[in-house]
Amino acid sequence: MKRILLIVGGGIAAYKACEFVRLCRKAGISVKCVLTDGAQHFVTPMTLAALSENQVYTTLWDLKDETEMGHIQLSREADVIVVAPATADLLAKMTAGIADDLATTLLLATDKPVVAAPAMNVRMWLHPATQRNVTQLRSDGVTVLNPDEGSMACGEYGPGRLPEPAAILDHLHNHFRVDKILANRHILVTAGPTHEPIDPVRYIANRSSGKQGFAIAAALANLGARVTLVSGPVTLPTPPGVTRIDIETAQEMANAVATALPADAAVMVAAVGDWRAETAEQKLKKGETAPTLHLSENPDILALLSASPRRPKLVVGFAAETERVIEHATAKRLRKGADWIVANDVSGDVMGGSDNMVHLVTADGVEDWERMPKDQVAHKLAERIAHAL
Ligand code: CTP
Repeated sequence: MKRILLIVGGGIAAYKACEFVRLCRKAGISVKCVLTDGAQHFVTPMTLAALSENQVYTTLWDLKDETEMGHIQLSREADVIVVAPATADLLAKMTAGIADDLATTLLLATDKPVVAAPAMNVRMWLHPATQRNVTQLRSDGVTVLNPDEGSMACGEYGPGRLPEPAAILDHLHNHFRVDKILANRHILVTAGPTHEPIDPVRYIANRSSGKQGFAIAAALANLGARVTLVSGPVTLPTPPGVTRIDIETAQEMANAVATALPADAAVMVAAVGDWRAETAEQKLKKGETAPTLHLSENPDILALLSASPRRPKLVVGFAAETERVIEHATAKRLRKGADWIVANDVSGDVMGGSDNMVHLVTADGVEDWERMPKDQVAHKLAERIAHAL
C-alpha cells in the first residue's frame, strides 16, 4: 500500500486526521486528502496540504481541479480509500449511494477497497439507522472499523470515538501486507450453524451467524492461503479469494470436509448441531398430542478429523461455552484431539455480535486475548496459524 485517498468527514475528530496523515507520511505512504464542507469547519485544507505535501480537494465544481485530475481518476489512482472520521451522515450517504459532493461522488465512483473509521456521538452510533447502515456497508464489502469506547467531546461516554490513527494505520498494513506467508498452503474452515430437518419445512438450528468463521477464512486468504470454507446457512458474502461450499446438515458438513482434504490446517468454527432428528417425509400436522422428536447424535467432525489418517498438521477447534469456559475448553481439546481450542464465553452478546473475547488453549497453556472485533480475532489467529505452520 503506497497511496491513500483520505476522505475527512465533518466531525470534531477531524483534527485526528492530521495525525493520521503525519503517520502515513512517516511510513512513506503518499496521501491525498478530500475534505467535506463540514470537515473544513474543523480543519483547514491548508493544514492537510502542508502535512500531506499534496494538493487538497474540496469541491466537485472546480474546473481547474477537474481538468488536471478528474474526480474518477482521483478515486482510482489510490490503493485504498480511507474515510476518517466517517460521520453518521457520510455512512448514511455511502449506504444509500448518494453522490452530492466530491467525497460521496468519489466513494460511489471507486473500485478500490474502502475503509471507514467512524466517529460520532454515542447515541448517533447506537441509533438503529446507523447500525443498519454499518451492517449494509459491511455486506457491500466496505471495511467499517469499530469506534473506540471512551469519553467524548460532547461529554458523554461510550462507543463513538475515532479509532486511534496508529490503529487505523495498523489495520491498513495488515490488510495490504505483501508477505503472503501462507502462500501454497491449503486451509479448511468450517463456519455457521447447521440445519437439521424435522420435516420438509421445519429444522433444528442455533444462533451462529458465521461471522467469526468467515472472518477467519478472509484473514487466512489475506495471508495467501488457499481457503476452502464449508459453511452452514448464513447470510454473509463470500470473502474474496475463498472457495465456499454450502451445506445444511452436520452430515453434509462432515462429507464436505472429508472431500476437501488434504489440508495443511483446519479451523473448525462451525456450530455443528449435536443431534439430528428423524426426518418426516411429509409436513407434520397438528394432532391431539405434540409429536416427540427422536434425536440421534451427529458425527463429531472435529474429533473425526483429528483421528483421521489424513489429519491436517494443525487442527484448531472452537469451544462456545456459557460457564467454566477454560475448564470445558481444556477438556474439549484433549477429548477431540485438537491442537488448539479457541474458547469463548457465549453467554453474552457474542453470538451474532461483532466482537469476541477468546482464550487460546494449547498444549502449552492458556492465553487470554482481550475483547476485540471478530475480524481482529481472525487476523491474530491467522498470524498464529501461519507461524505454527
Ligand atoms: N464440532 C464438530 N462436530 C460436531 C460438534 C462440534 O466439528 N458434531 C466442533 C465445532 O466446530 C467446534 C468444536 O467441535 O470446533 C466444539 O464445538 P462445541 O459445540 O463447543 O462442542 P460440543 O462437542 O458440541 O460439546 P458441548 O456441546 O457438549 O459443549
